[in-house]
Amino acid sequence: MRMYDLILKKRNGHELAKEEINYFVSNYTKGSIPDYQVSALLMAIFFQKMNSRETADLTMAMVNSGAILDLSAIEGIKVDKHSTGGVGDTTTLVLGPMVAALGIPVAKMSGRGLGHTGGTIDKLESFEGFSVEMTNEKFIENVNTIKLAVGGQTGELAPADKKFYALRDVTATVDNVSLIASSIMSKKIAAGADCIVLDVKVGDGAFMKTSEAAFELAKEMVSIGKNVGRETIAVISDMDQPLGFAVGNALEVREAIDTLKGHGPKDLFELCISIGSQMVVLAKKADNEEEARKLLIETIESGSALNKLKEFIAAQGGDASLIDDTDKFPKANYILPVVSHMDGYVAKIHAENIGLIAMELGAGRATKESVIDLSVGIVLNKKRGDKVSAGDVIAYVHANDTDKAEDARQNILNNYELVKDYNDNIPLIYGIVKGE
Ligand code: URA
Ligand code: CA
Repeated sequence: MRMYDLILKKRNGHELAKEEINYFVSNYTKGSIPDYQVSALLMAIFFQKMNSRETADLTMAMVNSGAILDLSAIEGIKVDKHSTGGVGDTTTLVLGPMVAALGIPVAKMSGRGLGHTGGTIDKLESFEGFSVEMTNEKFIENVNTIKLAVGGQTGELAPADKKFYALRDVTATVDNVSLIASSIMSKKIAAGADCIVLDVKVGDGAFMKTSEAAFELAKEMVSIGKNVGRETIAVISDMDQPLGFAVGNALEVREAIDTLKGHGPKDLFELCISIGSQMVVLAKKADNEEEARKLLIETIESGSALNKLKEFIAAQGGDASLIDDTDKFPKANYILPVVSHMDGYVAKIHAENIGLIAMELGAGRATKESVIDLSVGIVLNKKRGDKVSAGDVIAYVHANDTDKAEDARQNILNNYELVKDYNDNIPLIYGIVKGE
């Protein structure tokens, strides 16, 4: 087999056979096919697309490029949750403890942020001492005793995805349905959970900009899960504005803690309950979503979810006292208001740009090697549909560099669109895709 022939075949719009897909995945992972040929193939896939059969074969080729975690030593139905990537998205930090507080084992593999999207591991490192480094045995033990553990994607699991993702990131080939579906599902399948709940984001701050594309991605992933015997449900949710108010690592952790204390942002809370209730039903702890919602809300009201967060942070080496004393989180030196000089209603907040502005402040990584500043970011004060008068603060910039703070202030203003009349017609949840 020659890589040249596979590139040509896909370039001309033909289907790749399973053996051909296995060939380029395994040889690229081994290092025997150069980046430039794989880049060309990825671009051909981007334009010519893959069908569902090819996407499923690509997924399994990536799963088989490394180890598959054996979680059979964990009692109960293990659920995993994954988001396709958003701005200010703190759901895992809220959901994990809520679901675990109901006795459901949550074995979560998380990633770091890249570009305009944040990553759960970076956020968790706002807790001094917190680490995702642990043996598989320790991971399993923590899930058995605490019901919640967060691990990093080690080189062992789906190593092909790691290589492909890095290459896609620099060749403008990330936002293709088959490539995203196979990337996410290969990691989830290799990570060993019994059921998977996906949060597929749609809008300006998401990879999928339209609801059609998001539903297509959701259906593709749900069908891959079904084919390999991992029940998968996808919730399609809004990412046309950042989720909640906070964008930035320690700022988002504080927002998650507020939510677990019962006074978090409405959209974040509602999304957590929606995704969480799917997880609870899949884990067979409730017969239906209505019952699951009630159980989840109880974990907030009783404080059991907040206690679960403390147990989990402490078990992975973090300083859990920060949960009661949130002033101890890393704090930026400057907190500057962004003031509107116009009247109107907020019609749009460009989420991707807000993510990029936070990244410029130091909250995210421009390249994989960048070191992030946990304390900086943006806290929105006005969201879509809110009324704004000239002189109102629409957001706060948390920065450690005054020049960067000034740039951020101006850029945030430019990324708010105000109108005279506004009717909000963007739902928080667009729909739910299930196997049947
Ligand atoms: N998240 C992933 O893990 N992979 C993608 O391709 C896109 C988002
Ligand atoms: Ca947020």
